This record gives sequence, structure tokens and C-alpha cells, in this order.
Amino acid sequence: MPDIESRIGTTRPHTALIWNYWTGGKDNYPVDRAAGDEIRALHPGIGDYAKADRLFLGRAVRHLAEQEGITQFLDIGTGLPSADSTHEVAQRVAPDARVVYVDNDPLVLAHAQALLVGTPEGRIDYLDADLRDVDGLELLEPGAVSCSAWRAPTPTPDVAMYAGVGRK
Ligand SMILES: C[S@@+](CC[C@H](N)C(=O)[O-])C[C@H]1O[C@@H](n2cnc3c(N)ncnc32)[C@H](O)[C@@H]1O
Repeated sequence: MPDIESRIGTTRPHTALIWNYWTGGKDNYPVDRAAGDEIRALHPGIGDYAKADRLFLGRAVRHLAEQEGITQFLDIGTGLPSADSTHEVAQRVAPDARVVYVDNDPLVLAHAQALLVGTPEGRIDYLDADLRDVDGLELLEPGAVSCSAWRAPTPTPDVAMYAGVGRK
């Protein structure tokens, strides 16, 4: 693993490495596995959620590439390179597919090079950026509000899930 491992990873658990452990990856350390097991003891299904999420990603990308003809993908919250990353799934269907990965984690950035290998016809790029950095987006009225309140035709009770629409 890259040098960044000397600063994070081996002595403190890291969320990306715990996720890697839950999804059956090998890029994790005893400290990550111990933390992952502790969390799993509190939330027994969590490892299954992680695996199901990863499988969903593959099915969703394959559907978009195969059935909808989509060839450009923006993958925000990339995580560590793993089997069947977005570009692998997309370019298997459409070799000219273009993928931009975005993540704000320095560890993911350190591993990003491994993601940048794809088909000669396609393109892959990686942005070290934060999902919450929305400058260049115009937040439409009424802004970030309870999703039940966003331009609801009739007043409904607020729910504790917030949403907004940004336009570029
Ligand atoms: C649970 S992992 C998902 C990894 C992968 N997409 C998968 O399905 O296996 C979530 C990722 O989102 C990234 N992330 C969390 N908050 C973010 C933010 N505000 N901006 C960009 N990336 C973020 C984390 O660093 C982490 O790599």
C-alpha cells in the first residue's frame, strides 16, 4: 500500500478499510477488522448491507450502460478500489464509457491510481473533492429542507430527511 499507510491505517481503524473488510477485500489491517467486528456485534447486519450495497452498485451501473445506453458516470463516494468498480462494469458493456470518481478521503486518493486503468477507448479520472462543496451549483428555492416540504403541493408534516436541488 502507498506511504500514506504510515500515517493512517495500521494503528487506528479507518472507515474505508473497515468497509473493505466487510465487503471481503484484503486491503485492511487487524485494527480495522477488530473495529469492524465490534461494529458488527452492535449491528449484526452491517456486513451484509455493505456487500449488498456493493452488488447494487454493479447492477445499477450495468443496467444504465446496457439498458439505458449511458456512457458517462459520476461516482461520488468511490471508496477503495475493489472488484467490479464502476469503470470496470461500465466498460465491460461500453468500452468507450467515461467515469469520474470523486472522494474526499486522503486514503482513497492514495489508492486512486489503481482505479485509473481502463479500456483504451474509455476515459477515467479521479477528483479529490467533497460532495458538500457545491459552489458552482445554484440551490433552487426553497433550499435544503425536509424532503416532505420541498415544493410540496399541500402542507405535510416534516420528516427528518433533508433534500435540496442544485442546478449547474
Ligand atoms: C461506504 S463507502 C462506499 C464505497 C463504494 N462506493 C462502494 O459502494 O463500495 C463511502 C465513501 O464515501 C466517501 N465520502 C463520504 N463523505 C463524502 C463527502 N462529503 N464527499 C466525498 N466523498 C465522501 C467516503 O470517503 C467513502 O470512501
